[in-house]
Amino acid sequence: MSGQKIKNIALSSDGSAVRIVDQTLLPGQLRYIELRDREGMYEAIKALRVRGAPAIGIFAAYGVYVLARSYGQADFFARLDADCDWLISCRPTAVNLARQVNRMRELAHAMEGAAIPAIVDALGREARAIHDEDVAMCRAISEAGLSLLRPGDTVLTHCNAGPLATSEYGTGLGPLLLAAERGVDIRAYVDETRPLLQGARLTAWELMNAGVDCTLICDNMAALAMREGRIQAVLAGCDRMAANGDAANKIGTSGAAIIAAHYGVPVYILLPSSTIDMACPTGADIPIEERDGEEIRSLWYAQPMAPAGVKCWDPAFDVTDHSLITAIVTEKGVIYPPYDVNLQKLFG
Ligand code: MRU
Repeated sequence: MSGQKIKNIALSSDGSAVRIVDQTLLPGQLRYIELRDREGMYEAIKALRVRGAPAIGIFAAYGVYVLARSYGQADFFARLDADCDWLISCRPTAVNLARQVNRMRELAHAMEGAAIPAIVDALGREARAIHDEDVAMCRAISEAGLSLLRPGDTVLTHCNAGPLATSEYGTGLGPLLLAAERGVDIRAYVDETRPLLQGARLTAWELMNAGVDCTLICDNMAALAMREGRIQAVLAGCDRMAANGDAANKIGTSGAAIIAAHYGVPVYILLPSSTIDMACPTGADIPIEERDGEEIRSLWYAQPMAPAGVKCWDPAFDVTDHSLITAIVTEKGVIYPPYDVNLQKLFG
């Protein structure tokens, strides 16, 4: 592997499009695509061409800027509001999407009365700031996460919480990437993460690219790996954390955490503050995206591996109860229970 650093989200050089790595094509092809209209942006988020809570927030912020460049004076705010609502409606669970789109929208509304080019310029700067903030947060999260590990440890990962899902180091994968850069031996078992295989397709690719020793397993192999003492910690990202520390993340995360609790393996949830939703009291208040059952029935198979028409239930996320989380890692450092009290102190 090359060790190359990928710029997964950027503005095109003339600012007329958002340029992303099409994550649906990885690991087979590293292809960049440019999105310049609202339908294309919506489809890119929905189809997971761009995915991961922080990444979709950054992408949508640039998207708002790109779209705003084409609005006229008369309909500027009507179109801005309609496009913001449209982008937010795309995926419900990751709070970053709504948070960053609303941040852009509020900035524009706060400038109502100013010249449109000045508002558009300010939107461009805001999108860039959202992106830069994520880079800094991921770096700090990665440092804090690494402090929880010892040389020789092997961790379990679920889904993909690396640079592709964020901006640079990632959250859940950040400690592993930093360790590799510093020559510290931290290894990983990588859950393949059914049904969309973010672990197999993206995490394994990113870790191998960075020179991290990783071993791919099916999701249902984690219990044996922990029973045999092969795993010293579970590291996962998050799509929305409630005020009590309940953490929505890719479907299967809570299963891994329950198994880890059984075997006494610590569970660390790594996330930027942009993923914490203090307005959401508990995990029961987090909306869970449901996706097309075809992802279970037929996707990836040369021929369907389930009877045609069989009913499927395809929730994309689950909620890990705060009682199963050993520590939460944010850009402000490592947070221990009681999470309701400690999150309120830091982010209330
Ligand atoms: O459906 P996805 O692939 O967007 O889900 C992503 C995850 O669940 C990630 O673990 C989460 O967004 C954290 S990314 C730093």
